[in-house]
Amino acid sequence: MGNNQKKRDGFSSKFGVIAAAAGSAIGLGNIWRFPYVLGNNGGAAFLIVYLIAILLIGIPVMLSEFSIGRMTRSNAFGAFKKLKPKSGWPFIGVMGILAAFLIMSFYSTVAGWTMEYLYQAIFNKFQGQDTASLNANFDAFIASGTMPVVWQMIFILLTASIVVMGIKNGIEKSTKILMPMLFVIIIVLVVRSITLPGASKGLKFLFTPDFSKLTPIVILEAIGQAFFSLSIGMGVLITYGSYIRKKNNLVKSAVLISFSDTLIAILSGVAIFPAVFAFGIEPNSGPGLVFITLPNIFNQMPAGYIFSIFFFLLLIIAALTSSISLLEVVVAFVTEQFKWKRKPTAFFLSAIFIISGLLSTLSFGTWKHVKLFNLSFFDLFDWTSANLLLPLGGLFIVIFAGWVLDVKVLKREVLHGNEKQQWIFKAFIFSVKYISPIVLFIIFLFGLGLFS
Ligand code: TRP
Repeated sequence: MGNNQKKRDGFSSKFGVIAAAAGSAIGLGNIWRFPYVLGNNGGAAFLIVYLIAILLIGIPVMLSEFSIGRMTRSNAFGAFKKLKPKSGWPFIGVMGILAAFLIMSFYSTVAGWTMEYLYQAIFNKFQGQDTASLNANFDAFIASGTMPVVWQMIFILLTASIVVMGIKNGIEKSTKILMPMLFVIIIVLVVRSITLPGASKGLKFLFTPDFSKLTPIVILEAIGQAFFSLSIGMGVLITYGSYIRKKNNLVKSAVLISFSDTLIAILSGVAIFPAVFAFGIEPNSGPGLVFITLPNIFNQMPAGYIFSIFFFLLLIIAALTSSISLLEVVVAFVTEQFKWKRKPTAFFLSAIFIISGLLSTLSFGTWKHVKLFNLSFFDLFDWTSANLLLPLGGLFIVIFAGWVLDVKVLKREVLHGNEKQQWIFKAFIFSVKYISPIVLFIIFLFGLGLFS
């Protein structure tokens, strides 16, 4: 065992674990997806369901994933195979790997747009444009084919160049630098936004709930967003859990990671909505929200040039620390199950990610008219991964943790270093056995119904 542990790459410090896992959780989901989904779903009422979902379901699923990963020291597929060989459970890992491809496909599209917008911000291209022309330029850019694809490729290769360096020297080292940077940038943006005249309207939209807006769809979207934002339901955190040392406390880590993720989502809302309202822009303008409304706002804001660079830099950092986790899930699977070397695996998989990414990127251009279930590839991947695949993966994971795994083994893993706080395990197991499976099952059925 001791020998084995020495040989296996892993996180070297407590802060490294938090930075890497929070880096996975905090991403485009917080800064790009959260504000637009919240805007589409009526604001504060959505936020309340979202917070409840994080607490009651999100943290327990995260803890289950970490525990399964650490007790087996295996990738998302191998973990289930070690615990229940010759059963159907490893299929959860296969589902997770499929989900990684779907998510990375549209994720790298948006990350590519972000790189273009950073470029435009640096060269001061937003200046002098009004809302109509910013809108038209965004639409023309995403439909244009070549540049979105080039940026997407650059982004995926950037991701791979970190993953090839491994856990300690690649993922941990980069996230330890990037995450604090992200935090500082977002604080600067929040201060700028709430000091704008008329900011209070945006804060009201974000924090004053109107419960008449709570429909089943809003609840589904809030739970889907919670899963997407925490990076749970597909084995990313099983993989990361397998790199956590025994002496790190899983409960503390899970709570701290979920808390930072939620904090950054709310701070993004606080950075974006006051500015949206202060300049009279519609809060429900969809995936283009940050790309169309924000340049507009930067144009009209004192020192907007600097803030626009900060903002798109923030988005890229957030996207990168998440995409490395998506790639790592598949790299860990291939290197461990097929004994491939890390470097060729990472670049080979990047090539596949680039090809599957084309589906999403070109669904705004050349393949605009290709629709499945009446959705473009981009929307299909975005919607189905968050609202169907992740809750379904989460459902299987909690059933496995709550009903299949030996309770004593699970308890030892969850409470390691925390043995006195038995109530934590009681609360955890209650959610994992009852609350989470029931809610996720209903949500999944509902998502399916909506879908057809
Ligand atoms: N959580 C990330 C975000 O909010 C996205 C992400 C990274 C993710 N890895 C994931 C989502 C794994 C689900 C599963 O941007």
